[in-house]
Amino acid sequence: MKLSGNTLLITGGGTGIGLALAERFVNNGNTVIVCGRRENVLQDAKDKVPGLITRVCNLEEVSDRLALFDWVTANYPEVNVLVNNAGIQQRFNVLQSDARDNWGYFSKEISTNLEAPFHLTMLFAPYFAAKDSAAIINVTSGLAFTPFAIAPMYSATKAALHSFTVSLRHQLSETSVEVVEVAPPAVATDLGGAGLHTQGEPLDAFADAIFNELAWDSKEIGYGTSVARLHMSRDDIDGYTEKMYQSTKHLI
Ligand SMILES: NC(=O)c1ccc[n+]([C@@H]2O[C@H](COP(=O)([O-])OP(=O)(O)OC[C@H]3O[C@@H](n4cnc5c(N)ncnc54)[C@H](OP(=O)(O)O)[C@@H]3O)[C@@H](O)[C@H]2O)c1
Repeated sequence: MKLSGNTLLITGGGTGIGLALAERFVNNGNTVIVCGRRENVLQDAKDKVPGLITRVCNLEEVSDRLALFDWVTANYPEVNVLVNNAGIQQRFNVLQSDARDNWGYFSKEISTNLEAPFHLTMLFAPYFAAKDSAAIINVTSGLAFTPFAIAPMYSATKAALHSFTVSLRHQLSETSVEVVEVAPPAVATDLGGAGLHTQGEPLDAFADAIFNELAWDSKEIGYGTSVARLHMSRDDIDGYTEKMYQSTKHLI
């Protein structure tokens, strides 16, 4: 995709991977809108990246997603790139989940990680298809391919988003809309809560690599360990998943 002259909406772009990408797009001559639930976090992002446009939005809510689409297209009708980046990660033991009383807590992972990107994509895709150039970038995870058994719903949402992205690419193949999947490995952000991803890849190096790769029209972009995981055989997936579970099961 072209890396300048776009107007992007990056969900969850007030922190972490979304903000690191937003900063690179702003510095490369793009207009960037980011959204998230916390106004103070968005203000901090704006202080860090002058020029960033922010919008408070809770993507768990259908009404907020519709309002976001209406607001973006009314105020920035030139918008041509959607980055479905917002996500949450919840680690839990299914034997201790108390899902009768706590389903509201668990279902947030589905509404945020899955419903929101599905819904926003289905709102923006027809709008983008009328443009000369556009893109939808879905941020999945290496865990879409090798499930992290202590985050079972998270891994399942990312696998589903990968599948949706493949279908979307087929459906949009005869339009101007490029469909790109970014599948990060563990990256040092606050995903899931502060301190859980401190062993991950340094954020700036990761974001630099992804930003550069976007220029090469890659359809599925991995980094570090996720490059191999994107193409593993079923036996290798099972082995990798088992090894990850054995080394992390004490955490839930
Ligand atoms: N870090 C990793 O190791 C890693 C690996 C693979 C994939 N990923 C994926 O990368 C993406 C970005 O994660 P990150 O690592 O950068 O973590 P992060 O810093 O926690 O970013 C997640 C962002 O999503 C926003 N968000 C969460 N729920 C939302 C909601 N309901 N409505 C609107 N915004 C919401 C958060 O803002 P508010 O809390 O203010 O709403 C936050 O800005 C996620 O999809 C994640 O699954 C990360």
